Amino acid sequence: MSQRTCLSVILAAGEGTRMKSAVPKVLHAIAGLPMVAHVVKAAEAAGATGLALVIGHGADEMRKAAQKFAPKAETFVQEKRLGTAHAVLAAREAISKDYDDVLVMFGDTPLIDAQALAAARQKLAAGAAVAVIGFRPPSPTGYGRLIEKDGHLVAVREEKDCSDEEKKIGFCNAGMMAVAGKHALRLLDKVGNDNAKGEFYLTDIVEIAGAEGLDVVATEASFESALGINNRAELAEAEAIWQARRRREAMLSGVTLIAPETVYFSHDTEIGTDTIVEPNVWFGPGVRIASGAKIHAFSHIEGATIASNCDVGPFARLRPGADLRNKAKVGNFCEVKQATIEEGAKVNHLTYIGDARVGAAANIGAGTITCNYDGYSKFFTDIGEGAFVGSNSSLVAPVSIGKGGYIASGSVITESVPDDALAFGRARQKTIPGKGKELRERFASAAAARKKAAE
Ligand code: UD1
Ligand code: CA
Repeated sequence: MSQRTCLSVILAAGEGTRMKSAVPKVLHAIAGLPMVAHVVKAAEAAGATGLALVIGHGADEMRKAAQKFAPKAETFVQEKRLGTAHAVLAAREAISKDYDDVLVMFGDTPLIDAQALAAARQKLAAGAAVAVIGFRPPSPTGYGRLIEKDGHLVAVREEKDCSDEEKKIGFCNAGMMAVAGKHALRLLDKVGNDNAKGEFYLTDIVEIAGAEGLDVVATEASFESALGINNRAELAEAEAIWQARRRREAMLSGVTLIAPETVYFSHDTEIGTDTIVEPNVWFGPGVRIASGAKIHAFSHIEGATIASNCDVGPFARLRPGADLRNKAKVGNFCEVKQATIEEGAKVNHLTYIGDARVGAAANIGAGTITCNYDGYSKFFTDIGEGAFVGSNSSLVAPVSIGKGGYIASGSVITESVPDDALAFGRARQKTIPGKGKELRERFASAAAARKKAAE
């Protein structure tokens, strides 16, 4: 089958009014990726070599987004929404390019799995002209019913056009189908709109192909595969299913999740074996974690690279560009942005490290802040290997601390510190013997006098 070419036509012209959103429905995200991008991924995994995106509502926004998630896709605008067959025909130019298989998919069905698509394509390779993907929902109401006879699909009947007898059928149309490229345009052009909704139904090509004596079959996919998203409650449902699948995959690949239901992955999270993730951890996009890391509870991580055996959190925030090398530690209430924490370096408590390098085995004391921004520009802080930064220090960038440099606690460092130097950036302490007691007595008698005067 691999040598068969395949065009995926993804229908995404719908308004999605029930999302109550200024954003086109299919651009709402699951695991941080627009749902239509999940559909594109499934199409590609099923071997689609060409992609046609049928858009309508929010066309400009859709085109812009598509450049990111499907740069090779061609977009076609369906001006009027006259039904699914009409929508597919908007991509006429792409369909006429002699693909072996044409896969019709919906942009709002993000959990479709590549296997279900590949199974339908397999039927075409075996000689079918049309293979419709079916599923068995808990309640079939609202779906088109698949009417089969002797192992062949005879018709797909929309709910509104079903007889009472047909409404009892539990095998439903998931909406997606594979059509042999050589028949696709001819079948689609024969579709009329003489039905209860007055729409051009894609599903009509089943009967049309049957009447031509062509072979039409149904394949079966999971309920989840066919889950169409119409509102934000369904979006959350799909997110939950996606997360459950991903957590399981992570655990089966060697990652320990102590409370899997509280860990959220992004579509692109990469995480190595023997990493332990404690409860309530959030992974935003762009996170790569090697093996043996510990991600403690309540950490929020995005755009970060975490090497082997690192220790992160609890309550750590790693922002884009955080690059933790082997055995680095970023502890509680620390934020790291666009900074490299080199091997074995420790940033353990209540610290902000932004636009910086922390050299290998350096130790950053509690409450250290890299002052990287003057309100207009960002500046870099370079901290050398083995340096020690005392607690509650402000490092005012641009500034560098040499290898083995030692910063006294509470310093405001504005000038670079050479290798192995000690730097103080604070007022010297003054200690006056007996003065504490004297002050206390003075304050106490003043307070007593005030109280007496008020009586
Ligand atoms: C469709 C199927 C139905 C199936 C159901 C599964 C048809 C005729 N019916 O019904 O058998 O059980 O999906 O969810 O195919 N779209 C356009 N342009 C249009 C019309 C639709 O782009 O003119 C897009 C929509 O944005 C959506 C998809 O096609 O992504 C499906 O359209 P929708 O109107 O939701 O079809 P259903 O009535 O749900
Ligand atoms: Ca629908």
